[in-house]
Amino acid sequence: MRAADIQSELTEILVTEDQILAKLEEIAARVAEDYAGKDLLLVGVLKGAVMVMADFSRALPTSAPMDWMAVSSYGAGTKSSGVVQIRKDLDTDIHGKHVLIVEDIIDSGLTLSWLLENFELRGAESIEVFALLRKPDAAKVEVNCKYVGFDIPNEFVVGYGLDYAEKYRNLRDVAILAPHVYS
Ligand code: PRP
Repeated sequence: MRAADIQSELTEILVTEDQILAKLEEIAARVAEDYAGKDLLLVGVLKGAVMVMADFSRALPTSAPMDWMAVSSYGAGTKSSGVVQIRKDLDTDIHGKHVLIVEDIIDSGLTLSWLLENFELRGAESIEVFALLRKPDAAKVEVNCKYVGFDIPNEFVVGYGLDYAEKYRNLRDVAILAPHVYS
């Protein structure tokens, strides 16, 4: 689905599909160079990272295994409370591995900060983060993110994996959701 298909539900396109794909090529080239000669394991965080993982992993010039985590934040009724529950764990033992976490977005940073700590306890050789999007104005904790696609304003964004009530993940671009849709 393209932004033009649901124009009345969006207020602004922030990042187009073409911009995303170009950025993924650029970051994949950097990652390939940084991890040359190392065994790289890509870890995606469901469900938002599905699109970025699919396109990013295929932009890499080398074979990189991928694994998935599903986590959910809960507590105080808010999305990112920092209290994280594992809903699907990794299939892989990451001890001694070079892990690159692939995320669609860093919002408050709480999910990733928890995940980084959790992966460190499992004895990964190295852990880095690639987030396609980051909202600097929403940060509650600092996350050491080596590869960032785009810094975006603190708005309600959907598309390219990001949802509102499970909708809009299959939008090709990243766009601001019109307030009438959720208010
Ligand atoms: C989103 C996103 C990140 C997290 C970022 O996932 O994919 O994992 O929120 O937010 P934070 O930086 O404030 O912790 P969400 O919990 O919405 O689940 P989803 O990926 O299944 O949509």
